[in-house]
Amino acid sequence: MSPSYLVIHGPNLNLLGRREPEVYGSTTLVDIDARLEEWADAQGVEVLSIQSNHEGELIDAIHEAASWADGIVINPGAFTHYSYALRDALAGVGVPAIEVHLSNVHAREAFRHVSVTAPVCRGQIVGLGWRGYLLALQALLEEDGA
Ligand code: DQA
Repeated sequence: MSPSYLVIHGPNLNLLGRREPEVYGSTTLVDIDARLEEWADAQGVEVLSIQSNHEGELIDAIHEAASWADGIVINPGAFTHYSYALRDALAGVGVPAIEVHLSNVHAREAFRHVSVTAPVCRGQIVGLGWRGYLLALQALLEEDGA
């Protein structure tokens, strides 16, 4: 079976394109997911992208991923900075995860400098816009030994 990955877009990322474009750029979530899909087709892997504004839905998706996903790419949005529940979900399923942020959170407000989820991820990619998702997927695939 071909490697399968779950991409999770957290709260407010459905607004990409019109949300603070000076910070997040003009690329919409639909555009990002289309680019990831293109990459997946070219690599012969499966990528499922989901977005939710609800913490519990994100946690459920992480739990379900344990039964099918070889890796998770997650942008937890603002949950990054305080959701111990999301952190516990990622730690609990043991599926390798990479955290992605479109903006350089370290160059922004102090509260964004802390990630409670990154310590249970393989790594974190910040500030590279939508390409961060692609780089994360590529890293997971290469770690899989493809
Ligand atoms: C973000 C950074 C977070 O601080 C913020 O709350 C977001 C987006 C990013 O992708 O840069 O919603 O995760």
